[in-house]
Formats: sequence, structure tokens, C-alpha cells
Amino acid sequence: LITHVILTGGVGSRLWPLSRKSQPKQYLEIFDGKSLFEMTVERNSYLADNVMVVGNVDNHHLSGKVMEKSKTSYINIVESTPRNTAAAIAFAAFASNPDDILIVTPSDHIIDKMEEYNNAIRQAILKAKEGFIVTFGIIPTKPETGYGYIESKGDKVISFREKPNETTAKDFIAKGNFLWNSGMFCFKASVLLDELKQFQPEVYEKSRIVWESNKDGFLDLETSLEIPSISIDYAVMERSKKIKVVPASFSWSDLGSFESVYDYLVSNGHPIDKDGNMVIGCDKHTTFLGVKNTIFVYTDTANLILQKESSQDVKDIYSELEKQN
Ligand code: GDD
Ligand code: MG
Repeated sequence: LITHVILTGGVGSRLWPLSRKSQPKQYLEIFDGKSLFEMTVERNSYLADNVMVVGNVDNHHLSGKVMEKSKTSYINIVESTPRNTAAAIAFAAFASNPDDILIVTPSDHIIDKMEEYNNAIRQAILKAKEGFIVTFGIIPTKPETGYGYIESKGDKVISFREKPNETTAKDFIAKGNFLWNSGMFCFKASVLLDELKQFQPEVYEKSRIVWESNKDGFLDLETSLEIPSISIDYAVMERSKKIKVVPASFSWSDLGSFESVYDYLVSNGHPIDKDGNMVIGCDKHTTFLGVKNTIFVYTDTANLILQKESSQDVKDIYSELEKQN
């Protein structure tokens, strides 16, 4: 059985104020009335037999609406609190048969060139059946610090490095054999669980306890809080020897920060002025004077003006505001 696992735990805090807890970016219907979440469901519907949604108490009704609209039946896993991707993926694996193949994807990426996408997933499924954990490698265009890097030779992975600092990222780009990790994975449920058990036994054990006491897919809060919060990239990908990479010839953007939104919009014809300044979300005439590469984000309830280079720091504003509320 092949299962598409959709991770939808994040609030997209680096895109505040466009994205927020009550309306995370993956549910905004900004693409011809469709959300990124809905597009994710559609994109994988021909590739998998089954769908599993790992979300949380704040957003499962939003996922439910989309699944109803697309008439897709699914297995619903509802976290009482986000414990990061290692635990979220573990829940999906515990909910599966050991030999099931899981295609794990975020719910908030833009992917084009469907034929290439389908080919990449099919290749990944074959390798996953052989017992490998498959990553998808994107050709990097700049020393982005918000991504994982896959050092590779053909489909072999020499090393995996999550979110390097800027100097290291520049070094990776200069070396040339490093790819960006797309954040999608494909593996056999049992293989992932074995690796997690080996490298992060506490995450494995506590996630198992939480999963086993689930009530119709709803997970208990108190025991969930005991699961160490760590991403699958740090927990498994950086340490496993079973990682393979499939080159991603499809086009990909994770729209993860304003910098990547900016790049995506520019390549789709959204205007910038001669100094590289951009307005998002406002039709009113706006003039920039004496500033460069500035992004002005306008929403009904809050505005943000930022230097494009500061895109990774937006999550800090978000956590500050969360504390105040
Ligand atoms: N259910 C659930 N629970 N989902 C979660 C949780 C959680 O606790 N935490 C994160 N997610 C979801 C997010 O909503 C997103 O869809 C996906 O898991 C990945 O989490 P991010 O927080 O967006 O990760 P990242 O962008 O910092 O890094 C990952 O993606 C990059 C590419 O976009 C890594 O895999 C990097 O290596 C990769 O380059
Ligand atoms: Mg992301």
C-alpha cells in the first residue's frame, strides 16, 4: 500500500502577517481559489492509494473542509500540540503497516511540471521498496540557510546537513555537489521507525506511547508534551546511512520565507521597482525612497516592512507577538 502523508502542523511563522495561527498559509485560497493544501492533495492523488493528514487541533477543521470538497477519504491524525516533524512522521508510520510505502510531503509547497514530479515519485517508490529513505534534491540557486543540504554523488548521499550557517552554505554552493533538500521523503514505514529508534530512541518510544493511546486519531496532550521536539532532518536524515537522493527536475518553491515568496513572485511577473522593492497584498500606489530590496506586506490587521535579507528573522517577531497575546 502506498500512502501519501501530508504534514500540516506549521503556522508558517516566517510569513507573518500573511500567515498566522488562525489561518496558516497552506489554507489561504490564493491560487485561483485553491489553497496550497488542496493542490498538495490533488498532486498526489494519482500516486498513492491512501491519504493520511497529520495536523493539529487548531487546523484539522480546515483540512477537513478541503478533504470534503475533494471527496477524498483519509486517515486523520490530530496532534494536541506540535512536537515537530520527527514525531509527526513517527505517528504516520505507527499508523501504517510495516511494509507500507509512505510519501511524506509538506502541505505548503508550490510544485510545477507534473510529469517530472510523477517520475521522481515513481523512482523514489522503487528505492523505498528496496529499504532506502529517499530525499528529493533541488539544484540550489543561492546559499540559503533555511534549507537542508544533501551532499551527493549520483543517487548516493555522502552527507546531509540541515540548515547550515551562511559561511558553510556558501562553501557548499562553491563545492557544487550539494543539493537542497525539498522537505519531501519516501520510505517504508518500518525502515523509518527502525532508524528513528536507533538515533532518537526517546522520540521513538514516547511517540509510540502517544500513538497507542490515540482516540480516533486524536492524540493526548500531556504525554505528547514529553516527546522531544526535533525535526526529522536532525533526528534521522543527518545520521542515517540509508538515505538516497532522487534529483528533482520538477520546479519547486517552498514559499517558506518572504525571500522565497519574492523570488517566486518575480519569476511570475509580479512588479518590483528599480531598486528591487516590492509590495505584497496592497493595490494602493506605494513609493519607496532611498531603500533597496524592501518588501512591504499589507494585510487587514497588520503590516510588515522588511529588508529582503531579514526574511529568516520574521519568525522571531511572530514568537514575540505570540508571547504578548
Ligand atoms: N503535523 C505536524 N506537526 N507538522 C509539522 C510540525 C509538527 O509538529 N512541524 C512542522 N510541520 C510541517 C510544516 O507545516 C511543514 O509542512 C513541514 O512539516 C516541514 O516543516 P517546516 O517547519 O516548514 O520545516 P523547514 O522549512 O524549516 O525545513 C524543512 O523543509 C525544507 C524545505 O522546505 C527541512 O526538511 C529542510 O531540510 C528542507 O530544506
Ligand atoms: Mg518549510
